Order: sequence, then C-alpha cells, then structure tokens
Amino acid sequence: MCGIVGYIGKKDAENTLIEGLKRLEYRGYDSSGIALVQNKKMFSEKAIGKIINLEEKLSGKKFSGNVGICHTRWATHGKPTKENAHPHFSCDGDIAVVHNGIIENYQTLRDDLKKKGHKFLSETDSEVLPHLIEDFYKGDLREAVLKALKCVQGTYGIAVVSSKNPDEMIAARKGSPLVLGVGNGENFVASDVAAILGYTNQVVYLNDGEIARVASDDFQITDMDNQQIKCEINKIEWSLEESQKGGHEHFMLKEILEQPKVVVDSTRGRLLPDEGSVKLGGLEEVEEDLRKIEKIIIVACGTARYAGLVGEYMLEEYAEIPTEVEFASEFRYRKPIVDERTAIIAISQSGETADTLAAIREAKRKGALTLGIVNVVGSTIARETDAGVYNHAGPEIAVASTKAFTSQLTVLALITILLGRQRNMSLDTGKKIIEELEALPEKIEIILKNKVDIKKLSEKYSKYSDFMYLGRKYCFPLAEEGALKLKEISYIHSEGFPAGEMKHGSIALIDEDFPVVCVAPKDSVYEKNISNVEEIRARKGKIIILTTQGNKEAEKVADDIIYIPDALEMLTPILAVVPLQLFAYYVSSFRGLDVDKPRNLAKSVTVE
Ligand code: G6P
Repeated sequence: MCGIVGYIGKKDAENTLIEGLKRLEYRGYDSSGIALVQNKKMFSEKAIGKIINLEEKLSGKKFSGNVGICHTRWATHGKPTKENAHPHFSCDGDIAVVHNGIIENYQTLRDDLKKKGHKFLSETDSEVLPHLIEDFYKGDLREAVLKALKCVQGTYGIAVVSSKNPDEMIAARKGSPLVLGVGNGENFVASDVAAILGYTNQVVYLNDGEIARVASDDFQITDMDNQQIKCEINKIEWSLEESQKGGHEHFMLKEILEQPKVVVDSTRGRLLPDEGSVKLGGLEEVEEDLRKIEKIIIVACGTARYAGLVGEYMLEEYAEIPTEVEFASEFRYRKPIVDERTAIIAISQSGETADTLAAIREAKRKGALTLGIVNVVGSTIARETDAGVYNHAGPEIAVASTKAFTSQLTVLALITILLGRQRNMSLDTGKKIIEELEALPEKIEIILKNKVDIKKLSEKYSKYSDFMYLGRKYCFPLAEEGALKLKEISYIHSEGFPAGEMKHGSIALIDEDFPVVCVAPKDSVYEKNISNVEEIRARKGKIIILTTQGNKEAEKVADDIIYIPDALEMLTPILAVVPLQLFAYYVSSFRGLDVDKPRNLAKSVTVE
C-alpha cells in the first residue's frame, strides 16, 4: 500500500527512482511524486493518477540530482489530488518526506504546528512530518527526524531528504515495511524489494523503531535511543525477470500460467514419499511444540483467508486438530480464547498486511505459538512469527492474488501431512496425499491448455452485472474466492456462498439475468450440489458448472460446463481455482479494464 523509493549515489537519481517506482505501482496508484536534490536546491514534481503521468510531466524538465525520493500513493487521508500526493515539504521547501502508514495524532500535531506558523498545503496526515522535522532541525537532519518521530503516534515507513544536507537520506520504520538496498557507491531505500531488484540484491530489512542515515558509500542504523544497531545484509533470491511480465499482456495472466511451476516450487525438497511425510525446515525448531497443540486458529485477509478456509477442512479431516479461521481484522477486537496449546497460522502473500500482523502480535501476547505461511522472504510477518513455511511462489505483482493462493493451499496440504503424521494419519494416507500433490502440476497444465474455452465462456458472460458462486465442503471457499476474483478486477457484483446456504435468502435474487457458477467436482458432496443447481434452474437462473472431466450428467443441468481433471478431494481446490481465475481475468479483459491495477485496491494493505 503506497510505494517508496529513495536513491543516493553518483547516477542521475530520476531514472532510477521512476523505474523503481513503476515496479511498486501495483501497491497504490492514485497519484505520485518525486523530490530531487542538486546543488543544495530541491526540485519536485507531482501528478495525479498513474506513474506514467508523472513521467510525462518530468520529460523535458532540466533538473537532475544524485539524491532523491519518490512515492506512489493509495489514498487514506485526503482525496487523490496533486496537493495530497507525496513528497510533502517543510515551509521553506528544504525538507521533503515520503510516508507510508498513518499518523494517528496528526490533527493535534497539525494544530500545534499551525499555531507556530507552519502552513499546510494538503489534507494528509503525512504532511505533519516535514513540518515537525523543520521545527526540530538545527543542522543535523537525522537528529531532527528522530525528534519528530518521537512526537508521532501511528505507523510509518519514511524517507527524508533535505537540500541543506545533500549527502544523506534518512529512512525510518514503525509498522510500515522499509528496506535498504546496498549497492556499490550507491544505496537505496524502498518499501518493497521489487523496486530495487534491478540494481542490487543485497538488502537490510529495517525493523520497527529503527532509523537509518544513508549516504552513497555507507549507512548507519540506530534505534530511537540512538543506540547503534548491528545489521545483517540479506541476499534476495528473486530475479528481476521474475518480477517482470515476460511477454504476457498482464501480470495476472503470467501468474495464472505459472501455477504448475508454483506447486513444484512450493513442494520442492519438502516431500518424503517413502515416509508418507514432509520435511518443512522452517518448522523443525518447533516440531515438538506442534505435537502438543490442541487447536489451530488461522488468521488472514482476502484471498489468503479463503486459502485458510480450505486449510480448515484439510487440518480437521486429516490432522484431526480443531481449526478455526478468523478475519485477521476482527481477531484482536474479539476475545479470542488462545493459550500455549493453540497455534496461530498467519497466511499472507506479502507478509506485511497490517491486520494479519496485529493478529499475530495479539496471539503472541496471549502465549500462542505463531506460525507464518508467507511468500515474501524477510517480510515483517515472516520475521515476527515463531516459525513458518515460505511459499516460494516468486513475486506476485498483479493486485488480484492467484499463484499465491495455489501455493498457500499447497503449503497448507504440507502442514496437514506434517501434523497428521505426528498424530493419527496412516503411512498410506500420507503417501497417497503426496502422490496426489506430485500429480497436480500436470493436471493444472491440462486446465491451462483449455484456456481458450474459458475465454469464449467469459466473452459470453461478460455483459452480466450480477453473479453468484456456490460450492460445498472443500470447494465452498472456492465459491468465495471465485466471486472475489471477479468483483476485484471486473467490478461485477458477485457473491460466493456455501451451496446449502443459498436457499436461506440469496435465492430470492435469482432470475434469468443472474448467472450462477457452481463449483461441483465429482466428490462426496456432488449430489447435494446438484440439488441446489436444480433449485436455481427452477428459477430460470443461468448455470455454469465446474466439474470433473467425464461427468457427462452435469451437462443435462448446466447451461455451460468447465471440466477439470480428477484429484483427491482435499486437493481439488488447487485445480478448481484455475478456471475461476481465468474466467475473472478474461471477463475483465473483455470489459476493457486495467486487470493488474483495479480501481480502489492495493496489493498489500499496510494500514488497518
Ligand atoms: C489485499 C489484496 C488481496 C489479498 C489481501 C491479503 O486486499 O488486494 O489480494 O488477498 O490483501 O494480502 P496478503 O499479502 O496478506 O496475502
């Protein structure tokens, strides 16, 4: 949510900053801005809308600079106007700040600063920062930033430059991710490694409460009490190519097509077929604790939560551990019953979602064992959980999550095997699940080969304005995920339900203009699903059935059919989600929408 890039070195900072910012555009894209320092002067430009608008404004401009910061915004306080775009400046224009997060006490600070004569130009909470820093500034920029941050309540990831201190850039973090990129004679600051991958793969993750002074040849990190922090330089394994489109029209399509490989990567080196078990390096340290747990609570948001719901069915059926799935945003406001025999699993692609992070912190406070299923290595949730499993899905750029979901399901299956084998799961059952997991990539390929059929179907249905998705048992969460995918990127009203729940109200909506997608593989609840389909048919609703290859009888009750290969019931969602993703993708494309950057959304929601 919002993106920050900062550069200091010998190059002209503008191109490096804009290139980096474009790679963060998926995090927020309602306005953007840049500030550059040269010859002790500050230059800046801002634009509403996508980064290309900023680029256009910059073309032909004559300023350059070797140090600068820039920002792409996802509005929280204040409309997406030029005034509200970052960077924000001190009254004298010498200090520029880009900020991610929310300053909760900004109103009080703003009133106090106004009384002292500071003039505000925007409606944002962020603008108090440059004014506060200006207030404390006595020549040492780092010290002024430190003092300003001590007055602030809320969350921040910030980068600050000043025309009076042209040889340094200050960065600080509390609650909003920030990394330092360590280059050769140049250094970077970014809210996401994707921004700097083209320049360096050496990074230092800033922790909450840390502040960095970054020069072109070195950097120092201290805590808020001025104590020097010894930091570790980490190597990023993702390549720049992985975070680019690779010839595809959209990141979303690229990421959908990558899913056979994603399942392979998420299981690589982790399967022990002969033992009917798995080896999860990230959980080894807590394996003995895991034997003792009596309850699991999964906390997550959005697509990750739907993966969690599938996980609930897997863990209860095969590991025999009572499992609940919570909206991460609700967890800390309830009175969750959690103790040392409870394991909390946080599922998060980005590892930065504020609500999921807050849930983990609350659970830790209550003594629970916290585990993460996280894709972004080194992210905050990965670092704050006691142990965890990385997805290894590679960078996911499209706002609508696809490959992260399949990898989350895959990892949940692995954890189910691990916990199941610690308990009552037989060797044969463990072996069977592993065998079925190994067969998945080829089966996903079969679905992807038929994507033209789904494209045709999408064209036929792209004009409808309401959809309902239904499913039962393992495929009930898929009904929700299918509906979410469609609404996120096509703006079509769509709802997903457990099929049996539909008759308790929502069936009133059904008429010939209300298509229903029923996810009904030939599994243990197939007949029940078909009874619900008949109820819809009786009300003239259009029906698309997603079912198992060879199930000809479904053709009798459906207007259209999507086939997927047969699989073990608990793993069927990993196949069934693929046509649902393709359907949403093509509907959005037919409607001429910006598939990768849907309106109002952000990839990683780092505010509450
Ligand atoms: C946002 C994204 C969703 C994502 C959710 C959770 O809402 O738009 O696609 O599922 O956050 O993100 P996480 O990074 O925690 O998986």
